[in-house]
Amino acid sequence: MKALITAGGRGTRLRPITHTKNKHLIPIANKPMLAYAIESVAEAGITSIGIITNADSQDVQDTFGNGNSYGVEITYIPQEAPLGLAHVVKISEDFIKTDPFLFYLGDNMLVGGVKKFVDSFEASKANCHLTLAKVKDPQRFGVPELNNGQIISIVEKPSDPKSDYAVSGLYIYDSSIFEAVNAISPSARGELEISDAHQYLLDNGFKISYSEITGWWKDTGKPIDLLEANRLVLDHQQSNILGSVDGNSTITGNVIIGKGSTIQNSIIRGPVIIGEDCDIRDSYIGPFTSIDDNTSIFHSEIEFSIVLKQCKIHDVGFRIEESLLGAEVEIVKSKRLPKTNRFMLADHSNIEVS
Ligand code: TTP
Repeated sequence: MKALITAGGRGTRLRPITHTKNKHLIPIANKPMLAYAIESVAEAGITSIGIITNADSQDVQDTFGNGNSYGVEITYIPQEAPLGLAHVVKISEDFIKTDPFLFYLGDNMLVGGVKKFVDSFEASKANCHLTLAKVKDPQRFGVPELNNGQIISIVEKPSDPKSDYAVSGLYIYDSSIFEAVNAISPSARGELEISDAHQYLLDNGFKISYSEITGWWKDTGKPIDLLEANRLVLDHQQSNILGSVDGNSTITGNVIIGKGSTIQNSIIRGPVIIGEDCDIRDSYIGPFTSIDDNTSIFHSEIEFSIVLKQCKIHDVGFRIEESLLGAEVEIVKSKRLPKTNRFMLADHSNIEVS
């Protein structure tokens, strides 16, 4: 079996971070999101992985190289434009050939691995195996209609959903999916929809089986989803303190502190991860916070947030919460007159003041 993982798309809901960074390289617990997908595919014993990338960027290639360090072999498949998930499958036929394959959306986070779904696919002798998750807002997803344990239809983003299940971003196919993606036409939004390919399979006598995801699954399209994914990953981590912590600081809960980092006169309440060479002074770092390398936090408070590399948070007079800060962001107390708030924000930035 091979695997196909997506790392293309526009990531519009995560602007402005995605103006300069591929969504799949945003760190969750200080590790690029895509690394979790690669690791869980590798864990299922699949070593031949195709990764779909935006054709105009090499960032993903630069980060993961040939996959050796994950024990896998990565083939990069550039996509000229984000023309839909069925388009992704279509352009991957040369790589997949006639093998069965696992199709994994690289912005989905799944706890508990994928091996059991591969086993269910093999046992079911189906042409396609879908994974369904119960959601509160099925209108945002591909939604199946179920009857007597069988999927009888699948509609993408329906206004009137036929169930409260979403088709999650993990699919397993045999090569009949290529007949489907080559037969369908673009939808009203101009994309080749994977739900239409699934409906084609149903309409043409192919067998679709499914498993229900009962554990934790997240589609990390929006900032709050990233924070939630970060929370769940941090919740499973073990403490490991490699940096230095002075006697005036208090560390509670599971906390990772990378080498070269120093914590002075501060309270760190886990689960928290602090990367390498960070400088934390006179500050409070609260639960579910990830702070990446070379960041300094002085005389400030932060909780339930993701902070990328080389940020400065100095003398901020309010607690920062539920926030996502890109690399080299500075939030500092103004030292010049007039005493006022000054913003220098990229397009699509978002600030909420109290
Ligand atoms: P989406 O979340 O549907 O799209 P997006 O990533 O462009 O984000 P937004 O809606 O905020 O603009 O994509 C799901 C996954 O599939 C994600 O990993 C990106 C990837 N993708 C591709 O690689 N190529 C595509 O043509 C599309 C539509 C998505």
